[in-house]
Amino acid sequence: MSKVYLTIRSGIVHHGHIRIVNEAQKYGDVYIGLLSDEAMVFDDRIPLIDFANRKLIFSNIAGVTAVLKQQTLDCRDNLVKIKPDFVIYEAYEASNMTPPSKDLIQATLANWGGKLINLASYNEPALDRLEEQLSSTGITPHRRRAQLRKLLATKPLVRIMEAHSGLTGLIVEKTVVEEGHHIKSFDGMWVSSLCDSITRGKPDIELVDLTSRLHTINEIMEVTTKPIIYDGDTGGKIEHFVYTVRTLERLGVSAVIIEDKVGLKKNSLFGTDVKQKQDTIEHFQAKLSAGKEAQVTADFMVIARIESLILKAGIEDALQRAQAYITAGADGIMIHSKSKDPQEILEFCEKYREFDNRVPLIVVPSSYSIITENELMAAGANIVIYANQLIRGAYPAMVKVAQSILKEERAFESESLLMPISEILTLIPGAK
Ligand code: SPV
Ligand code: MG
Repeated sequence: MSKVYLTIRSGIVHHGHIRIVNEAQKYGDVYIGLLSDEAMVFDDRIPLIDFANRKLIFSNIAGVTAVLKQQTLDCRDNLVKIKPDFVIYEAYEASNMTPPSKDLIQATLANWGGKLINLASYNEPALDRLEEQLSSTGITPHRRRAQLRKLLATKPLVRIMEAHSGLTGLIVEKTVVEEGHHIKSFDGMWVSSLCDSITRGKPDIELVDLTSRLHTINEIMEVTTKPIIYDGDTGGKIEHFVYTVRTLERLGVSAVIIEDKVGLKKNSLFGTDVKQKQDTIEHFQAKLSAGKEAQVTADFMVIARIESLILKAGIEDALQRAQAYITAGADGIMIHSKSKDPQEILEFCEKYREFDNRVPLIVVPSSYSIITENELMAAGANIVIYANQLIRGAYPAMVKVAQSILKEERAFESESLLMPISEILTLIPGAK
């Protein structure tokens, strides 16, 4: 009996797959190369069904002989293992992964006399769009909340950008940069206390209360699907923090990060220029544990933020706290620094890598923005948060326009700084 090999890169299983398997069966025993979760996430698609369950379903479809894991769009390693007589070829578009050309696959198949075949029905556009349609119909809190852990399990570095409104949420959701076949985008949003306060014209001192901040989250959630990490400041009183955890979790936020400070919180980037006090290890551990006990699902994450480097308490203190916070149940450690030189962060990362019980490590390169994502990844960081760049970009642009109008006593001169009216009217889909 001949063998036929077919790559499937879908995160769901649908009737189109049954049809293609039926077609493929006409050529021989069907071997499916199923794209791994890691490969799908690299392609900016979190699979709705994880690999183990997709494999279970595909293995039980009548006519499928075996399901093999495929780590990229390049099926040639699997081909060498199976030596199929036929390979069903699909042309992929708009993908982060570059599939090998027909010629390259043909060259591999030539080693044992295999052939490439095209099945027109395989490329049915309506089926291609099915997954897209499913995700565009919105997202439930449950699915959004679980996404951060899924990303952490499958991506070497999760890329998070601040959002402080529906509009900035849309920017984080939709902005993509294409480089050849590679598409880059953000994985989720950081609801920063600094940006959320500044947007309201208020200082970042835990003055904007949870109710107001929930408005921001709700605005963002209404127009996006990506996971959200909430900047929980100090978490407040332990008795209050447990309610915050429950509320955020219920809404579909994936994680809260709380910092180990007490008293009147000031923004960390002031460093020691203002009076700021670090919490005791024991008290902060109690807060983390209470938060962990309060959560209902396994997906929500309580992340501990260490301010030792900000407050010049040293790396050893930061490491000791990291150990203690992990012991108390923290699902992640955020290490912060306001040094322009990434050295102290890199030193922390190096020592942190030696922990046996390490949990995901989060970094915020606002001051040491010189560092690249590749360098952070190599140091062992799991999440990078771009904490305030959108608002820092927007503010000077707005002030410039305001000044130009005052100076010129008309708006004409500012036009070159502005988006055309025709574009602003249609900026938001469905505006017309
Ligand atoms: C925020 O974005 O509000 C933060 C990070 O907490 S920082 O501003 O650097 O303290
Ligand atoms: Mg903050």
